[in-house]
Amino acid sequence: MASYEEDYRSSLEDPEGFWGDVAAEISWEKPWRKVLNDSNPPFYRWFEGAEMNTCYNCLDRHVEVGRGDQDALIYDSPMTGQIKKFTYSELTDLVARFAGGLAKLGIKKGDRVIIYMPMVPEAAIAMLACARIGAIHSVVFGGFAPKELATRIDDAKPVSIIAGSCGLEPGRIIEYKPLLDEAIEIAGHKPVTCVVLQRPECEASMIEGRDHDWQDVAAADPTPCVTVAATDPLYILYTSGTTGIPKGVVRDNGGHAVALKWSMKHVYGVDPGDVFWAASDVGWVVGHSYIVYAPLLHGCTSILFEGKPVGTPNAGTFWRVIQDHKVRALFTAPTAFRAIKQQDPEGKLLADYDFSNFETLFLAGERADPDTIIWAQQKLDRPVLDHWWQTETGWPMGANCVGYGMKPVKLGSPTLPVAGYDIRVIDEHDPSHEMAAGEIGAIAVKLPLPPGGLPTLWENDDGYIKSYLADIPGFYKTGDAGFIDEDGYLFIMARTDDIINVAGHRLSTGGMEEVLASHENVAECAVMGVKDELKGQVPVGFVVLSAGVNRPAGDIQKELVALVRQKIGPVAAFKVALIVKRLPKTRSGKILRGVMRKIADGEPFKTPATIDDPEILNEIAEVLASAGYPEEEKKDA
Ligand code: COA
Ligand code: AMP
Repeated sequence: MASYEEDYRSSLEDPEGFWGDVAAEISWEKPWRKVLNDSNPPFYRWFEGAEMNTCYNCLDRHVEVGRGDQDALIYDSPMTGQIKKFTYSELTDLVARFAGGLAKLGIKKGDRVIIYMPMVPEAAIAMLACARIGAIHSVVFGGFAPKELATRIDDAKPVSIIAGSCGLEPGRIIEYKPLLDEAIEIAGHKPVTCVVLQRPECEASMIEGRDHDWQDVAAADPTPCVTVAATDPLYILYTSGTTGIPKGVVRDNGGHAVALKWSMKHVYGVDPGDVFWAASDVGWVVGHSYIVYAPLLHGCTSILFEGKPVGTPNAGTFWRVIQDHKVRALFTAPTAFRAIKQQDPEGKLLADYDFSNFETLFLAGERADPDTIIWAQQKLDRPVLDHWWQTETGWPMGANCVGYGMKPVKLGSPTLPVAGYDIRVIDEHDPSHEMAAGEIGAIAVKLPLPPGGLPTLWENDDGYIKSYLADIPGFYKTGDAGFIDEDGYLFIMARTDDIINVAGHRLSTGGMEEVLASHENVAECAVMGVKDELKGQVPVGFVVLSAGVNRPAGDIQKELVALVRQKIGPVAAFKVALIVKRLPKTRSGKILRGVMRKIADGEPFKTPATIDDPEILNEIAEVLASAGYPEEEKKDA
């Protein structure tokens, strides 16, 4: 195997040669005309002319070469007390039958199908079944409210929606079907059919003619894989942008399969036959890439876990899963480890479990704070590796690629750029200027993105250019700010936009502001992400009431919290709405969100010279203090 340095260099100097070689790991029905079509920048296409099927590469292919009896998927659900294992043969059969059922419902290549499901194996089966018949799936996370689901329905225009009757959160059953019915009611576009998985915990009522029971659909005859172009979309995944309208990130079939399979060995250091566990949700990109597609493309056993790191039943759950299923590598968000550390600071529960198969912990989804990394290193006595990527790229941009041998860990850094990613730090005020080592700027990737990166936004090429490409010509703008040190290590420090990261979940404060502004008593508002010991960040809203409103503040605050939950969903974790007399602004009227966030976080700040009235900052600090911010002071008190 080449060294990291050799592969990294060759991936940038000769991308076609590099990825053309890597692509031999995937089974193609027809070879490509060109590895990279770069004749129409900024739109790049990988493996143009090639044909294949992603589901075939994830399932049938492994059965054909003798992996049929190996577990492909293990569903481990402390929420229901169930553990179910599916071999590659069994999963292939289940997926082929469900795909056959979808085809019988009239779903065909290129049709969109929304999947709104909890963490049950049927969610993965539904995704793979869509891939099998060339339908484009779009999974929507269960913690989103009907209005968010409706926005996605109107954008993706699905012919069908596959849903579970309910999701299970500790202490409560969330009935998905009424949420789905409401979303379809709100949406302008209406799906022709819905397929509903009735879970024993809750029986959903069905709408005659439109709704079909999962079991009936899954009873169909198995259907073979449909050939698709490498450049055809596999899925659309909506992610938070800077407004309330989410962005429909498109993923292709061919480039995605090539990059994801490659990443399993090179980034995560695992081999076919190994057990890989991404403790996330299929509603997020981590779930798409590292619960479903990559482990299966690589012939691994993947764990689909329905539970939380704590409380299901306790902070030893992760250790139990690692032991019981002989997990070699675990991938989760730092917040999961903060939750475990909070409940079991000494890591006492670890002593009860056998860790002999466990090799590496990977963290991503938010900045990995050094305290959490050190705690995990000490308690697990294994490498704890931060790595950095996003929905748009689909797989890691920055990592300590253990497949090549581990590089020294620098706390707070996801280590080095991964092959295919030419990462630069650009001056935000002058895109032609690159920052020197150690200087903070906007992190950008020189185009083209490697295979697997988004080719565009769903039916929105202009939005793709405007959001990611226009600001720094020739580059993809990640939206993250940070620096590269003199050893080439990446440091990801903050977002350059209004996206925040709450418990590893990506949310738009702009979207929350739109909701608050829709309340009849609100004249103006601002939402920002404030430091939180468990979730990394939580949103805090500031509202100025309209003149003449003299209702009790507590009532309005409760309504605002409920409104965000109703419009965006519980996942927004919006619990604090502070009423202020005015918002600090520049003389040109721009709200000074950055300064407010610094006050809330207890960070030093400079009063901007352009502020129209510096006194407002004292008022903001007082209101924050009365709500217990900064958090450090809350702890000290
Ligand atoms: N369906 C419906 N509601 C959901 C949901 C789902 N799939 N997922 C979360 N929610 C709800 C939660 O019940 C919670 O509701 P509440 O306000 O009534 O308490 C709310 O959304 C916020 O969820 P979350 O921020 O996840 O908080 P939590 O207290 O439930 O759990 C952690 C905190 C840290 C344990 C949890 O976030 C976690 O395990 N994170 C791991 C990281 C992860 O999965 N990251 C994904 C990207 S890698
Ligand atoms: P998502 O698209 O939901 O995966 O969120 C991607 C965003 O999460 C990135 O743009 C970063 O802001 C943040 N992020 C992900 N991983 C890391 C990491 N390892 N360090 C710092 N930030 C991260």
